[in-house]
Amino acid sequence: MATPTVPAFLWGASTAAHQTEGNNLNSDWWYAENREGAFFPDRSGDADDSYHRYEEDIALLASAGLTAYRFSIEWARIEPAPGRFSAAELAHYRRMIDHCVASGVEPVITLHHFTHPRWFAEMGAWAHPDAVDRFAAYVEAVVPILSPDVRFVVTINEPNTLASVGSVMNLHELVAPTNMPEPDPALRDALAGAHKRAVGVLRDAGLRAGWSINTRLFHPEPGDDAAAKAAEHLSRVFVEDFLEVARGDDFVGVQAYTYVRATADGVASPPEGTRLTKNGWPFYPQALHDGAELAHRVSGAPVLVTENGIATDDDAERIEYMDQAVAGMNAAIGAGVPVLGYLHWTLLDNYEWGSYFPTFGLVAVDRKTFQRTPKPSLAHLGELARG
Ligand code: NOJ
Repeated sequence: MATPTVPAFLWGASTAAHQTEGNNLNSDWWYAENREGAFFPDRSGDADDSYHRYEEDIALLASAGLTAYRFSIEWARIEPAPGRFSAAELAHYRRMIDHCVASGVEPVITLHHFTHPRWFAEMGAWAHPDAVDRFAAYVEAVVPILSPDVRFVVTINEPNTLASVGSVMNLHELVAPTNMPEPDPALRDALAGAHKRAVGVLRDAGLRAGWSINTRLFHPEPGDDAAAKAAEHLSRVFVEDFLEVARGDDFVGVQAYTYVRATADGVASPPEGTRLTKNGWPFYPQALHDGAELAHRVSGAPVLVTENGIATDDDAERIEYMDQAVAGMNAAIGAGVPVLGYLHWTLLDNYEWGSYFPTFGLVAVDRKTFQRTPKPSLAHLGELARG
């Protein structure tokens, strides 16, 4: 196996299995999308067919001059039934890693990106006392395909989102998630336990491990003390408690997009006239600077930007956002925050958890033919990578 050349700073893009691969049949999300009465506007279906087209995806990224690709390994494929690991699916992901290495692209691997095997969800997911052991068994099964070419592994993607909207994983009731309830402390602790077990397993194999946090920013109304207090509380329970878990890790993944307005009564819609992106989030590239700074201050760990981007049909707007976000990241670096890399969300327009409407991609994907069409922002990120 060729040793990958190790670039000093990783420039690349991120994806997740369920959002791009298609036909994730054994997962809880597939079940939730396809059961009678499902409340999602779209089903994932074939997604981007990246399960079969990953070579083309990696080639697009590499030809733009990017040096890293973050993708996730799908637990529901690796362990479709409890304790039964698929050698064929492990080999599939190993081929993806090999293809990255052969293309001069560093693979950054996520082990858990929102989806679970359906059997795991049915046993109660993270609320079950065996959940941590189950996850550790999956991680142990995957480690052999990671060494020696992978350096960075994200154990769990956005545990703070998972602990908050975990109700969507409830397969026994048909309930649409409410508007971001506060993370459940029991789920938070289970996820933290699973993360730390995984970090141990990964480090024993010589890998560098961390988890990726949605560094949600809560902006109180200026001059409103009660709102400032509420924002402080929200930041602690939604973000800082999870960043503290990252203390002592090899890195902390930062996923920064926007801010949320906080009032004395909790979160509120942005005021009239706020510039919004396609999925209704305030346009706020400064989120990356603030998120990186917060993550490093609370965790003490080096930052790896594992997601940052916007949903828009106007690619010039994406470029504007990217330039400002990267400038903010550089300002944070200048102020002493160690940053290992910048991975844009996302390489391809994909399944945004219920809908294909929000287009976050550097590359457009035809929903019938799966033809990929790079947007100018892909080449632009490549230019940023070249410096
Ligand atoms: C966070 C998630 O990790 C990813 O799956 C999602 O598509 C993006 N942010 C955009 O919402």
